Amino acid sequence: RIDEALVRALPKAEVHVHLEGGFSLVDLMELSKAAGEELPGPAATIFDVSTHDGLGGFLDFLDWECGLVRTPEQAARHAYSFAARETSSGVRYADVIVNPTHWNAWAGRVPHLLDAFAAGFDEAEQDGLAVVNLCVSLLRQQSAGEAVELVELLAEHRPARVVALSVDGDEAAAGRTGEKFAQAFTLARDRGFHRTVHAGESSGPEGVWDAVRLLHAERVDHGVRAAEDPALIEHLVREGISLGVCPRSNLALGVYRDWVDHPLEALREAGVRVTLNTDDPAPLGTTLEADWAVAAGVFGWDLGVLRDFARTSVEVSFAPPELKAALL
Ligand code: HPA
Ligand code: ZN
Repeated sequence: RIDEALVRALPKAEVHVHLEGGFSLVDLMELSKAAGEELPGPAATIFDVSTHDGLGGFLDFLDWECGLVRTPEQAARHAYSFAARETSSGVRYADVIVNPTHWNAWAGRVPHLLDAFAAGFDEAEQDGLAVVNLCVSLLRQQSAGEAVELVELLAEHRPARVVALSVDGDEAAAGRTGEKFAQAFTLARDRGFHRTVHAGESSGPEGVWDAVRLLHAERVDHGVRAAEDPALIEHLVREGISLGVCPRSNLALGVYRDWVDHPLEALREAGVRVTLNTDDPAPLGTTLEADWAVAAGVFGWDLGVLRDFARTSVEVSFAPPELKAALL
């Protein structure tokens, strides 16, 4: 039987997790007090996603959380505790997504925000905690011009630990955005940044096609609705494009009704490179080891399958080659 302790003991990477999804209830009580703001509801139910009304409402909640972070010390501290949380799940390396639009106190000062996070991750690494790099994310609703501007900013400032460009947010609210962001993602590729793209969560397979055809995605975040398109599955397998799957998030936000309905196992059996991640562990009330253990129970995986997941997570991560080699 696979239990959480066994999962924790496997050295692994997490490749689809948001820095915005790392605030615990205690963090929020402390930050809201410092900011002189009330919690948006009773502390007991603040993470109850049924009150968030799907992905759109959940993203608004992330705006509120991140808006409480006003000082570089608070940002660095959040980064440090994020690395500590990852470490406690047996994660040795994480690519963490950060979307500057959520951190609304830092508008116009994005490099300062990124530097503060990097300082926290530096300290964590010095303390022997997981190594964390940043995937800086566009919000789905941003314009083509804003997208190019962000990449130019990253290419010019080269903030420490930034390894990739990403896009997240609600595909259902923004419509198809592949064309709009194509120039920014091409520029990112040409400037040496990796690419990871949210798609096939609030969009169908067409969002995943756009990610791979127009945005040069090396990884697709979620991507689960690719399961509906056999030609797309074949393409993902052939090109070795991995999916950063987060079943708990999909269940909480209503993409699937139950674990048994989730296509993770079908995708894995079709030969797609899949990883198993948390997305937003704190507000979803989960941990990586809990999700791996539950999935193992639901899909009947043995330790060998979990070792494959751990290996894949490291292989598809944007970790530096030396660290990858040490973890494989
Ligand atoms: N989807 C889109 N955007 C997000 C998510 C997600 O699951 N989590 C945080 N930002
Ligand atoms: Zn996500």
